[in-house]
Amino acid sequence: MDEAGNSTEQRIVLITGASRGIGAQTARAMAAAGDHVIVNYREKLKRAEVIADEIIAAGGSASTAGADIADADSTDALIESIVDRFGRLDVLVLNASGGLERDAGPDYAMTLNRDAQVRLVRLALPHIPSGGRIVFVTSHQAHFHGRKPVPADYEPIAASKRAGEDALRAMEPELTDHGIGLNVVSGDMIDGTIIVRLLERRDPDAVTVRREHGALPTIEEFAAAVAEAGSRTTAAGGTTYVGGQDYLHAPVQ
Ligand SMILES: NC(=O)c1ccc[n+]([C@@H]2O[C@H](COP(=O)([O-])OP(=O)(O)OC[C@H]3O[C@@H](n4cnc5c(N)ncnc54)[C@H](OP(=O)(O)O)[C@@H]3O)[C@@H](O)[C@H]2O)c1
Repeated sequence: MDEAGNSTEQRIVLITGASRGIGAQTARAMAAAGDHVIVNYREKLKRAEVIADEIIAAGGSASTAGADIADADSTDALIESIVDRFGRLDVLVLNASGGLERDAGPDYAMTLNRDAQVRLVRLALPHIPSGGRIVFVTSHQAHFHGRKPVPADYEPIAASKRAGEDALRAMEPELTDHGIGLNVVSGDMIDGTIIVRLLERRDPDAVTVRREHGALPTIEEFAAAVAEAGSRTTAAGGTTYVGGQDYLHAPVQ
């Protein structure tokens, strides 16, 4: 226990989609703060191993766990393996997201961004001790869906991530009964991510418009906010906004 009465036992943290981008940087940040991070990936084992090895080389604690969280059997196996190895899960960071993949069917965004998130929380819930945290990572375009305009090709993603956030918030009374807090972190376009780099090539104006509101947050800044939302000391129930202050202040359209 520290002076504030918080446990100092190493926490077990699962970060979905941590083989690159924001998830990978969140893994680095949480491991640097002393947590054991489980770097989940869907396909890219090598990339996930590089992240875990880098964390270990820096003196941190990490492991990898492959699972397609849109697939029920794969998710069952993921939680089973964590429970077998660690006996519990202290923090679940719901970072993995998608829907723009070339081979994605019309229902995939909702399957991944809502149904899979809820399913994962349901499976993990019996193994998260009181004091645990769930962090849902989202974008301003999704968080403010229905209140602010969204580019046409991002619409299904925004709608499904908003539906995921609503479904998780609806579980909050049950989570609170278990002593588990839910925090949401929402970000503007994040500089340096693959998605923004691709968008910049396809539709440079969409990115320029966001830059007119100020520098876009970096992966490091956004990941630091995600890590903070999952920390022992952050109060439960909040939403953290990173960048895009105009979303918070401009009149709703
Ligand atoms: N990029 C932005 O500008 C931005 C802005 C605000 C919020 N966000 C949010 O931040 C989060 C991460 O975004 P990002 O841009 O870093 O993502 P990204 O670069 O597209 O990375 C996606 C990660 O998710 C994994 N993944 C994809 N589908 C999965 C599945 N079905 N099961 C398990 N893992 C899966 C990928 O694993 P593999 O590589 O193995 O496929 C990869 O590790 C998302 O929730 C996103 O909405 C992003």
